[in-house]
Amino acid sequence: MTDDEKLTYDERRARTRELAAEFNEKGEPLGWFDALYKEAAGDSGKVPWADMEPNRFFREWAESTGLKGGGRSALVVGCGLGDDAKYLDDLGFKVTAFDLSPTAIDWAKKVYGNADIRFETADLFDPPREWTWQEEKPTAAARGFDFVLEIYTIQPLPLEMRAKVIDSIAAFVASGGRLVVVTRGREDGEEVGVVPWPLSREDLSRFGENGLIELSFQDVWDEEDEQRRFIIEYQRN
Ligand SMILES: C[S@@+](CC[C@H](N)C(=O)[O-])C[C@H]1O[C@@H](n2cnc3c(N)ncnc32)[C@H](O)[C@@H]1O
Repeated sequence: MTDDEKLTYDERRARTRELAAEFNEKGEPLGWFDALYKEAAGDSGKVPWADMEPNRFFREWAESTGLKGGGRSALVVGCGLGDDAKYLDDLGFKVTAFDLSPTAIDWAKKVYGNADIRFETADLFDPPREWTWQEEKPTAAARGFDFVLEIYTIQPLPLEMRAKVIDSIAAFVASGGRLVVVTRGREDGEEVGVVPWPLSREDLSRFGENGLIELSFQDVWDEEDEQRRFIIEYQRN
């Protein structure tokens, strides 16, 4: 990152924190996402996490594991502008992608509307029933997805919601299905700092409590924003 790029990046991050604080004060801790997409008004440069290409940590992971969809179902959680949904579509998955922000979903449809992706406005805390795995009576209508992708949705949500967010994401994984999580990482007990709040291994252990088995764990250093990233793969037996 050049000094100019770093300045712009820092400015965008500062605006994000300002909006998050403003909406928190109003008692609407999730309201700032749609406000930010609206404020960006079609300029992806104003959305700090929008790359307009697949997340590079996920792409490297997918390339190294030879990930292929083969017609299996995939769900992208908090899909934003849809770049990772498009990548999974290109890999041969049948993709559903959702976000709380209707502005983000309209935008994603404009960019990737030609792809065979189902983009939906939905709240991960209140998803359509057929998206979730039901332990009691798994039926074709309620089985979850073969592959679930979560990138950077857990980390900006209020810490007091973290366990509930993880429970909700875990519930999207079908029997035998896989989940990949890409997130900022920190040590257990390390200060969380400012939003987005990195996840620790202790936070992530909640996926295990939801019946998901950790298959792989990568801890990498991001030179660009000088932060750790964790890339974790889970499976439901
Ligand atoms: C940091 S952004 C990451 C977006 C995208 N995954 C990416 O990596 O570009 C977090 C996304 O989660 C969405 N989000 C926040 N709360 C949500 C909720 N309760 N249900 C669904 N999406 C949510 C936001 O609107 C935002 O698009």
